[in-house]
Amino acid sequence: MIETQSASQSPAEVAWRGDFTDAMMGSSPAPLALLVRGDGCWVWDDSGKRYLDFLAGIAVNALGHAHPVLVEAITAQISAVAHVSNYFASAPQIELAQRLRRLSGAGERGRVYFCNSGAEAIEAGIKLARRNGAHKKIIALRNSFHGRTMGSLSLTGKPALREPFEPALPGIVHIDATIEALEAAMGEDVAAIFIEPIKGEAGVIDLPEGFLARARELTTQFGALLILDEIQTGAGRTGSWFAFQQHGVVPDAIAVAKGIAGGVPIGALVTFGAASDLFTVGQHGSTFGGNPLATAAGNAVLGEIERAGLVENAALRGAQLRASILALNSPLVGEVRGAGLLLGVGLTAPVANILAAKAFALGLIVNAPNDETIRLAPPLILGDAEIAAFIDLFGKALEATV
Ligand SMILES: Cc1ncc(COP(=O)(O)O)c(C=O)c1O
Repeated sequence: MIETQSASQSPAEVAWRGDFTDAMMGSSPAPLALLVRGDGCWVWDDSGKRYLDFLAGIAVNALGHAHPVLVEAITAQISAVAHVSNYFASAPQIELAQRLRRLSGAGERGRVYFCNSGAEAIEAGIKLARRNGAHKKIIALRNSFHGRTMGSLSLTGKPALREPFEPALPGIVHIDATIEALEAAMGEDVAAIFIEPIKGEAGVIDLPEGFLARARELTTQFGALLILDEIQTGAGRTGSWFAFQQHGVVPDAIAVAKGIAGGVPIGALVTFGAASDLFTVGQHGSTFGGNPLATAAGNAVLGEIERAGLVENAALRGAQLRASILALNSPLVGEVRGAGLLLGVGLTAPVANILAAKAFALGLIVNAPNDETIRLAPPLILGDAEIAAFIDLFGKALEATV
C-alpha cells in the first residue's frame, strides 16, 4: 500500500492518523484515507472527496457499497436473530450451504463448513488434508498466498511473510507452478495439493495451460486431495461462479470467503464427493461460523448476483475493461492478466506503487500487489459509466507516471 502522510494534511486528518497509530497494532499499514460511506462503485472520505473503487475491499464488495438488497437482508436478519451458536441450526445457514453446493457443482454429495475468513477456510482445508489417510505431505505453490494464520501462512509460498514466524507447520513443500515440478513432487505420500486458480496477491498470475487438469489427474492417481483456494476468485468474480469451472476439473474441496457475503465476514470450505466424509462430529468448529447474520448476507449477495446476471456481467465487463486499458496505448502497460473482474495490469517498469498513488490522488482506488502490477477487482455491478470513468482516471494516472 502507499503512504499518504504529507505536509498538506488537514488538522482533522492529522488527528485521526494520530489516533489510528496510537490505538491500532503496529502490523496495520498506514491507511490511505478515512472512509465514511459508499454507494455502488463509489466511496467518500471524511473530507467529502469521492473515489471510484476499483479494489472493492480487495475483491469483497461484490455488490458494491450499500446495496439495498444486502442492507435489507442484514437489517431484517439482525432484527430477528443474529447469532445462535452451533448448538442450533438456522434457516439462512442451511439455505447458504445448499446454495454453495449448487453453485459450485458439488451437488448432493457436497458438504459445507462455515467459518469467518479466508484463512479459516484454508485452515479447515489443511485439517481435511490431515484426515486423508496416513500420508501427510501437502504441496503448495511458490509465490501463493493463503492467509496469515499459522496454517495458512505455512502454505503461503512467500518466504518473506513466513520466515518471521517459523517454525512453520511441518510437511508442506512449495513447488513452482509448472507441470514438470508437479509431476516430480507427486507421490503416494501426498495428502493434498492447494492451488489458487489465479494467484491474486502474487500479481494476478494465471496458471499455466493444463496445470489444473494435470493436478487433478495426479491427485486422483495418488489418492491426494485437490483443494482450490477460490477466496479471491470465487463468487462470480472471474466470469464463472468459481474459477475452476473454466478449467474442466472437479476439485475435492474449495475454500471461499471475501465476496461471498459482500463485506460481512464469512468463510467456507465446500467439499465434493468422498472428501465430504473426512470430518467426523466434533473434529472442527467455530463460534461465529455460519451464524444467521453472515449467512443471510451470503444468501442476499449470491442471490442478487444470480438474479442480476452479475457472473455474466463480470465476464463481459472484464473483457471490455481489458480492451479499453490496452486501447490507452500507454508505454507503461505491458499486458493485462487474469479473468473477468480480477485483472492484473502488468507494467513495463517497476512503478506500480507510484501509479497507484497518482490514481488515488485523482480519486481512483486501485492496488499494487507488487511494483510491476496494478490489480483491479471492482464490484461486479460495474457498468459502462464506471468503466468510462475508470479509463479517464487511469489514463491520466498513467500519463502522470510515465
Ligand atoms: C487467495 C487468498 N487466500 C486466502 C486469503 C486470506 O483470506 P482472509 O484475509 O479473509 O483471511 C486471501 C486474502 O487476501 C486470498 O486472497
